[in-house]
Amino acid sequence: MSATPAADGPVTAIVHAGGEHVLPLLERVEDLLREVAGGHGPVLAGHAGSTISAGGKRLRPLLVILAAGRDAGEGLVRAATAVELVHSATLVHDDVLDLAPRRRGRPTVFATAGREAATQTGDLLFAQAFTLLAANGDPEQVRALSDAGSALARGELLQRADAWDAAIALERYLQRCDLKTARLFQAACELGALEGGGGVGGAASLRDFGRRIGLAFQILDDVLDVAGPADRTGKHRGTDLLDGTVTLPFILARERDPELAALDPRAVRDPSTAEQVCDRIAATGALDEARAQALEHVAAAKAVVPAHLPERQRSALLMVADGVVARYS
Ligand code: IPE
Ligand code: IPE
Ligand code: MG
Ligand code: MG
Repeated sequence: MSATPAADGPVTAIVHAGGEHVLPLLERVEDLLREVAGGHGPVLAGHAGSTISAGGKRLRPLLVILAAGRDAGEGLVRAATAVELVHSATLVHDDVLDLAPRRRGRPTVFATAGREAATQTGDLLFAQAFTLLAANGDPEQVRALSDAGSALARGELLQRADAWDAAIALERYLQRCDLKTARLFQAACELGALEGGGGVGGAASLRDFGRRIGLAFQILDDVLDVAGPADRTGKHRGTDLLDGTVTLPFILARERDPELAALDPRAVRDPSTAEQVCDRIAATGALDEARAQALEHVAAAKAVVPAHLPERQRSALLMVADGVVARYS
């Protein structure tokens, strides 16, 4: 895995479209991530460092940088790094909640070192995110990231509370996606706009943009969990069902297939049963409908990108919006 996300095709195109300041800033974010994850003793450094060095798309730092629209210096690097640290922290904790064996192509901290180590690693990453961001001296930024962190925790708690409930309402599902995913995308855009000099007023439409693409991103993530293919997504199909998480494809499919409507998710106990249920969901056409809903959020996001932004910045943001629903991982 490359030290920056720039080696991947679609991201390379976006980085290029955003202007020549984007790649050097992403590289500085990468350096700062390594520095932060490497401190705090060898055990934590090992776990935090392996989570960070395993890569990931670095989509949120990219959004921070693109929302700023210019090289706003070290404050922007700190903001982008802080967002990725919060994201990484939530993934380490999410893998405890979901009992997940692998993440970013590697065994999770939970799988290699257990619940306690994963809890502490996530806590460390969270704490470091706010230490970094505080150095920007802007309470609005701290508030924005802290709100996203709180929303994430609420979203994950709601998801656990909803586990195994095959009848959850569409609105509740969307609320979970908003809390656990979209709010951090929102904060990424807000931080970038604030550091870029857009001020609180200028940040409003970019916040909105971030929230809408975040919703589309999570819907697509849930579609990929059912659709696979596993060799492209890097995980077996049906992992959400196996941990009791009912998502949009199932919600849509249960309206179309009475046997799915009658399914007790607790009956889905092994990967091969989960794959069969995925096939059944796909056969209803629910995946196309879910993708269409994600695309509607993307279209709404693109519509709120301010017309007055420099063309380069605008087109890079529009490419990110399209990219969140055109991916496999
Ligand atoms: C995974 O996010 C968690 C979700 C919100 C679905 P990403 O897919 O952006 O994870 P990385 O950073 O690329 O690993
Ligand atoms: C997203 O939820 C994780 C967070 C927003 C913390 P998922 O549980 O669907 O994400 P993956 O599939 O593990 O990446
Ligand atoms: Mg998970
Ligand atoms: Mg989860």
